[in-house]
Amino acid sequence: MLLECRDLIKIYPSPVEGLMFPALRGLDLQIPPAELISIIGPSGAGKSTLLRLICTFDHPSSGEIWFDGKLVNTFTNAELEEFRLNKVGVMYQAPEDNLIWDLNTIQNVMLPMRYSGKFRGNEKARAEELLEKVGLKGKTHRKPSQLSGGEQQRVSIAIALANEPKLLLADEPTGELDSVTTAVIIDYLKQLNKDDGLTILVVTHDKRFAKMTDKTYRILDGRLTTYHIRSEESVEVDLEEEVVIVDSQGTLRLPREVSHQFKDLKAVKIQVKNGKIELVPFKDKMKSKEGEQK
Ligand SMILES: Nc1ncnc2c1ncn2[C@@H]1O[C@H](COP(=O)(O)OP(=O)(O)OP(=O)(O)O)[C@@H](O)[C@H]1O
Ligand SMILES: [Mg+2]
Repeated sequence: MLLECRDLIKIYPSPVEGLMFPALRGLDLQIPPAELISIIGPSGAGKSTLLRLICTFDHPSSGEIWFDGKLVNTFTNAELEEFRLNKVGVMYQAPEDNLIWDLNTIQNVMLPMRYSGKFRGNEKARAEELLEKVGLKGKTHRKPSQLSGGEQQRVSIAIALANEPKLLLADEPTGELDSVTTAVIIDYLKQLNKDDGLTILVVTHDKRFAKMTDKTYRILDGRLTTYHIRSEESVEVDLEEEVVIVDSQGTLRLPREVSHQFKDLKAVKIQVKNGKIELVPFKDKMKSKEGEQK
């Protein structure tokens, strides 16, 4: 595995004083090298939180993150610097987290290379090439404030790729883009994955990613719930093909579409038969007795 998250929990202080809010509640994720994976979920599901933990921008409350067989949680400062500069490229959701406003576009892309020293003498040419690939050839000397939101995001992708990372993390890479530019960015990510073997994890609420990534997870309330594997031929995403995840604790979450079909579903009986697991709605008689007494 290139990346493995084991039972990740992230608890933030809640706006209500004295309470805590669990944004990630025991999340397991495995990403083999050269895969293109998306995690799709609604606002507040924990997508950005997960990316911030993987790129070591923030610490998990508990759980493990493994990268290339090494436990990221225990990295020394030198290992952290190497990881952040050369191993993982991140495109954060907010452009202001990716860009330096006083530098122009090409200077922004050259900056990570200056820090790493990896492309000494070739930084400018490489930055120009990366900017051309994201469709910003004529805008290399503009400051971020002179670019549209979508263009700022494209510069952010170029910055994330500057030091040839092994893993690209992208948070809503198409969030600000019109549909034509979205298609360009999706194609570019696919090409990076296919031609260069770059491992890519995209977190988004844009369902179109389900059609382009090898594997698509759904995230809800800080846990991965189901996934879907794209078959080469299928253009449309067949949700019937989705499978429900059983995490390392043995937890399984019924999709809402299923639980909504059963009124007042509070428990199920598990029956194992001929290699199959059957869940049978269970009526709690104690509860109905209490109801009768009232
Ligand atoms: N620094 C923080 N302090 C307290 N709560 C936070 C913090 N960051 C995120 N949260 C809460 O954690 C939950 C998950 O947030 P997160 O930003 O990961 O969601 P998201 O899936 O990226 O949503 P969106 O699609 O809107 O970007 C939300 O309820 C959010 O309010
Ligand atoms: Mg987010």
